[in-house]
Amino acid sequence: VTAEKAGFDHFMMKEIHEQPKAYRDTMMGRIAEDGKSVQLTELGMTADYIKAIRKIQIVACGTAYHAGLVGKTVIESLARIPVETDVASEYRYRSPIITEDTLVIVVSQSGETADTLAALREAKRNGARVLAITNVVGSSVAREADDVLITSAGPEIAVASTKAYTTQLIAFYLFGLHLAQTLGTKDQAYVAEVLAAMKNLPEQVEQVLEQKTVLRQIADNLSKHNNLFFIGRGVDYAVSQEGSLKLKEISYIHSEAYAAGELKHGTLALIEDGIPVVALITQEELYEKTLSNIKEVKARGAFVFAVVNAGAEVEAAKSVDELFAIPKTLPLLAPAVAVIPLQLISYYASLARGNDVDKPRNLAKSVTVE
Ligand code: G6P
Repeated sequence: VTAEKAGFDHFMMKEIHEQPKAYRDTMMGRIAEDGKSVQLTELGMTADYIKAIRKIQIVACGTAYHAGLVGKTVIESLARIPVETDVASEYRYRSPIITEDTLVIVVSQSGETADTLAALREAKRNGARVLAITNVVGSSVAREADDVLITSAGPEIAVASTKAYTTQLIAFYLFGLHLAQTLGTKDQAYVAEVLAAMKNLPEQVEQVLEQKTVLRQIADNLSKHNNLFFIGRGVDYAVSQEGSLKLKEISYIHSEAYAAGELKHGTLALIEDGIPVVALITQEELYEKTLSNIKEVKARGAFVFAVVNAGAEVEAAKSVDELFAIPKTLPLLAPAVAVIPLQLISYYASLARGNDVDKPRNLAKSVTVE
């Protein structure tokens, strides 16, 4: 069993460490040799089809849904096509407006989640084309979709998803660039810049992994609390939601992720002395805005732990109690680095609480019933 875990105590930790390789494997063969364009030869979509897409709906469950939240921002900002995101169990019953110029993207690690599969069928019944982003070749979702983008994360055993989520992000970056270069919404220089930054992601993830002992100390402190909050704006908010879910799944600590600017409309009432708040601040444009939200919670006694870009530590340190710096990448790519410390914190918090990290209570790796 230790051999299966490659020397790690748990599959989750092994899988967290496999992410640099999983990123490389998911990019492999999908970037032109000159680094200037994406080549997704597995897709059957013609340029004419892509030009006719009027709306995209991303549908998934759990962690895959959270990847979809980042995917929405990625596609909208690269390709300027409107994107809706839904959890699959809601999508199927809300009578979604699906037309022939709607592209539906289903995201599923296993490719076997019942709600996601039902959503896929609903989309096809209504005439939409369906693209599946999945980790399992030959899964039900892969077989029934019109197009498939495989994430090459390798088998994921731990119930709490890590490398599946991050490779889903990579798939969204590649697909967003594919749309952008087909539609001409971004020029070649920009596409090349994003691709170059993507190639650095594995190394940047390694750098975070090297500092995991720091995160263990932070997690040990957080694990003593029964309630905490995650805040962020833009894609940082999407990553916050994944960080909160991860923590709930394996540490059983209650947490909520909030769009930082929305706190003042209600949730701020819950902030009291000593409540931990995990703040993500990787988006330079929103930096000042999030900082002012941090001041709001600090003024009410919160203990703020921030994830910030390297280079911004000195300034951020004035406003927060503790921080962790991640290597800087392009704002759109930040989720692929920023989520790593959150995965590690959840892992260590679960460990500190003596939980079964790989097999949390009440949860299943793949939910094949409704
Ligand atoms: C289960 C798992 C989650 C996962 C979700 C969707 O609830 O416990 O970790 O995110 O299913 O799974 P999928 O295989 O469709 O990505």
